[in-house]
Amino acid sequence: MGEIVMVISGKGGVGKTTTAALLGLQFSRMDKKVVLVDTDFGFRNLDIFFCMENQIRYNVADVLRGVCSVRQACITVDENLSMIPGTKDDSFSCDEGRIASFLQELSGSFDYIIIDTPAGISSIHHMLLPYITQGILVMAWDQASISDAISMSKLLQRGHMNFKVVLNEQKPIRFLVPKQELIGLCDTVLNSEYIGRIPYQRQLVFDNHKLNKSLQMICSKL
Ligand SMILES: Nc1ncnc2c1ncn2[C@@H]1O[C@H](COP(=O)(O)OP(=O)(O)OP(=O)(O)O)[C@@H](O)[C@H]1O
Ligand SMILES: [Mg+2]
Repeated sequence: MGEIVMVISGKGGVGKTTTAALLGLQFSRMDKKVVLVDTDFGFRNLDIFFCMENQIRYNVADVLRGVCSVRQACITVDENLSMIPGTKDDSFSCDEGRIASFLQELSGSFDYIIIDTPAGISSIHHMLLPYITQGILVMAWDQASISDAISMSKLLQRGHMNFKVVLNEQKPIRFLVPKQELIGLCDTVLNSEYIGRIPYQRQLVFDNHKLNKSLQMICSKL
């Protein structure tokens, strides 16, 4: 059965979608069959990351409503990598039973199901939580992001969710907190494992040596 990975953050805009997409690409290059699922209902943008917004016929809400099959909603991004785009319908709310059968079906066909989610904790996180095998908490380097990650980690621990931390160098900023201190913070304050960082990319080009090395390290720890 496939690993079900949920990408989360406290603060918005810290790089969840970017992290989900890059990890999906990396795992697929490691010969794993991967599907990315966009559950940021109303604010889909995983498709934009891959410049595939014109190829969407069905979306995740269509699958969950039973309008189409999983196969019909899957868009091929790359060899071994598929994507189920999000919906623009911000009033969409899904049924817990359908989520279960949806994830069960994906987990029978893919090695990794990587789920991009909205910032914070919302009803979709609660519905997904029982099926997740790994959570990835994305934290940027700025003070607000660190503070929100701490709040988020408390919520996750209350829900007994196991998660690991990825630091995303989302902006070319000077570090207010030294890197080693940030990594230490993962152990002591967030009470979870730091598994690597994504370097700042002026232009997000996947075939970049520094980026690929970082992604390999993160994937090896998942
Ligand atoms: N490592 C990086 N280097 C350069 N730019 C980055 C990096 N990570 C993210 N970005 C940029 O930061 C912006 C926000 O990233 P992204 O959309 O992945 O965040 P998000 O957490 O998914 O946001 P939201 O909470 O709105 O869903 C995007 O413009 C993205 O290209
Ligand atoms: Mg996003």
